[in-house]
Amino acid sequence: MDKIALVTGGTRGIGEAISKKISSSGIKVVANYSSNDEAANKFSEKNGIDAVKFDVGDYDQCSKAIKEIEAKHGNISILINNAGITRDAALHKMTLQQWNEVINTNLNSAFNLVSSVIGNMRDSGFGRIVHISSVNGQKGQFGQTNYAATKSALLGFSKSLALEVASKGITSNVVAPGYINTEMVAAIREDILKSIVDTIPSKRLGESDEIADLVNFLITEQAAYINGATFSINGGLRMD
Ligand code: CAA
Repeated sequence: MDKIALVTGGTRGIGEAISKKISSSGIKVVANYSSNDEAANKFSEKNGIDAVKFDVGDYDQCSKAIKEIEAKHGNISILINNAGITRDAALHKMTLQQWNEVINTNLNSAFNLVSSVIGNMRDSGFGRIVHISSVNGQKGQFGQTNYAATKSALLGFSKSLALEVASKGITSNVVAPGYINTEMVAAIREDILKSIVDTIPSKRLGESDEIADLVNFLITEQAAYINGATFSINGGLRMD
């Protein structure tokens, strides 16, 4: 059976590294993106990986896009639930829009995507699902009540899902990155970012490839017995 992987937010940042790594191991990858056509086209041309535009926070768009991908390439057996956004603000300044955007993209997406792929995974007796959480979902972060709430919710989602699907040959695991060298982290005010890096025992940001390597292992046949687990990759910022 040829394996098909869907990587959400797969054309930029950590998602881009994951798409490339999985593709280089010989698996057909489809990379989702939501808005940046220019980056997606460039990514596609450079890497020979299909990029498909849809909003992971929208149930109907997810189910339609996944049906189209499966009709074209075959059933999705690997889902990397990576797409995520920040709308940082202290709670007393946070708007309902900032709250809702983050909940939709980072959390409702888990339901929208998994519910669209899980039936075929169950029928085929194989599936690999990896959710990209965050150190800030594990420890909390000033200015991120919305983001941290979604990223810690993914832990409960993933563990509950693992209980439901483990007997069907499907795994659901979480990778929780720390501060990684991406556009998202580069957007933090310089002085704040410097003070954060000072608190990281490794004294540097992580690299997207360091996340992609672990994700690429978790989707292999050899990782069949790893289920409901959470893997922290954060340079020692939080040790579990
Ligand atoms: N702990 C305690 N107090 C803090 C604080 C902290 N970490 N950060 C700020 N404060 C205090 C400030 O000292 C200040 O106090 P005073 O009013 O007494 O001077 C007050 O809170 C306001 O601080 P700011 O001027 O920073 O407030 P702001 O409204 O301009 O900015 C913010 C708020 C946007 C949240 C900004 O603090 C910020 O960008 N923080 C970084 C948030 C962060 O780490 N985001 C991660 C993004 S990357 C990511 O999410 C990827 C991943 O998974 C890791």
